[in-house]
Amino acid sequence: MKLTHTLAIAAFTDLISAAPPTIAPRQTSGAATVDLSTRTGQARFLGSNFIYGFPDNGVDAQTSIPDHFLTDIKFNACRAGGAQTTSGGWGSGGYDEYVGRFESTLSNYRSTRKYNGAFILLLHDLWGADGGSSVDDLVPGDNGDYTEFDTFLDQVKKDVEENDMLDGLVIDIWNEPELDLFWKRTWDQYLDYYVHATQLVRDRFPTTLITGPSFAHAASVDIENWQTWARIVADTQSIPDIYSWHQIGPWEREPDRTVADFHTLLTTYNLPDRPIDLNEYASTEEQNPGTSVFYLAQLERHDLRGLRANWGGGGELHDFLANLVYRDGDGVYHPNGEWYVYRYYGEMVGERVATTAAADLLFDVFATLEEGGVKILAGTRSVQAAYDVTVGGLAALGLPADGVIGVRTMRFDWSGQFADAGEPVDVGCVEYTAQAGELVLTVDPPTNSTAFAFEISLDGKC
Ligand SMILES: *[C@@H]1O[C@H](CO)[C@@H](O)[C@H](O)[C@H]1NC(C)=O
Repeated sequence: MKLTHTLAIAAFTDLISAAPPTIAPRQTSGAATVDLSTRTGQARFLGSNFIYGFPDNGVDAQTSIPDHFLTDIKFNACRAGGAQTTSGGWGSGGYDEYVGRFESTLSNYRSTRKYNGAFILLLHDLWGADGGSSVDDLVPGDNGDYTEFDTFLDQVKKDVEENDMLDGLVIDIWNEPELDLFWKRTWDQYLDYYVHATQLVRDRFPTTLITGPSFAHAASVDIENWQTWARIVADTQSIPDIYSWHQIGPWEREPDRTVADFHTLLTTYNLPDRPIDLNEYASTEEQNPGTSVFYLAQLERHDLRGLRANWGGGGELHDFLANLVYRDGDGVYHPNGEWYVYRYYGEMVGERVATTAAADLLFDVFATLEEGGVKILAGTRSVQAAYDVTVGGLAALGLPADGVIGVRTMRFDWSGQFADAGEPVDVGCVEYTAQAGELVLTVDPPTNSTAFAFEISLDGKC
């Protein structure tokens, strides 16, 4: 009996080894797509921006961080107002507590203009409502009185004009008013302020763009703050030139859904389409190569200008380009792992092509078409999982619909905010076989923060 059993097993084993080899299908969490046949406009580095991030230098442009750290990433916008400086702001002590904040703002403005960026000026910072204020400090519109705010805004106007700050200027009406941290009064008082401030800024700064509402929570048709804001803005025609909100943290839905909701709000309240800024994006744990690529892909798909949120406290808020560089003990600046991703993104100078995120909305891609070929950045939103990138429309580039195509692959590592992860790793030339005009690239991140770049040349060779 025993013998027979052994023989049976041996025979069975022969049978399987004789069978043709079978390869288990690759298990993935889904696929993002790139459609090379659909162009979506020139790349403009919409996400290469940040809030604060420049070392203050009196009232002058910063000279500490070498220019190439800015120019390589194609930096083009900053947002600041002197938060977390030694001055408390107008609301806590009038002009004397304001002037230091204005000087920091002017220095940051000049740093921004040195690289031809747009500068979004934060009124709530100059007022001093950046988290450190007391509930007893004056808030605009207290007791229905705007006298102090109007005096404040006239001072801002005088200082802006005397210092030649109108070029590239955008004025932000108030930051994150839904949070007690920034607005220590009722929602009704905020709405009243919003309308008053918008009308006054329009009058005093007739050529300057206004942005708002800069809510902490991304647009949603279900959020009452968004509904009441949209209604009052429509009723009073206090419409910002640039709509804005924040996309921060894994608890928020991504722009694929929040932008769709925002458009529903615009339709419901009969508001016009205008440019959108996500003037703070990513929480501190989301600031890593993979998740930044995820955000950049979302920004680019929806034509949103994006500014990295800045999680530095005190002096660190006013430094490090919002956690893209760090300083060693000798005062020398170095890039961290994320900076290399933004440099690569800054080199994606061609035309953008249409993309879609994976169905689970945790993996996304950004792609451009340029003279030599295609560049693709790919990254997950904080997950370590396998995905594919399905690249369609190969014929649009004259690449074979069926056949072998070599793809240059690069990996972007992350060693934390205060460490140089080194140049992107050249993973080599991976040969893929195109089928019916489609190429399926595989992404297997070794960590939950790794990003990848893929390059396809027009000759299909690396
Ligand atoms: C990503 O991985 C790191 C290191 O293993 C871990 O500390 C972190 O919690 C992970 N992040 C998420 C969002 O799971």
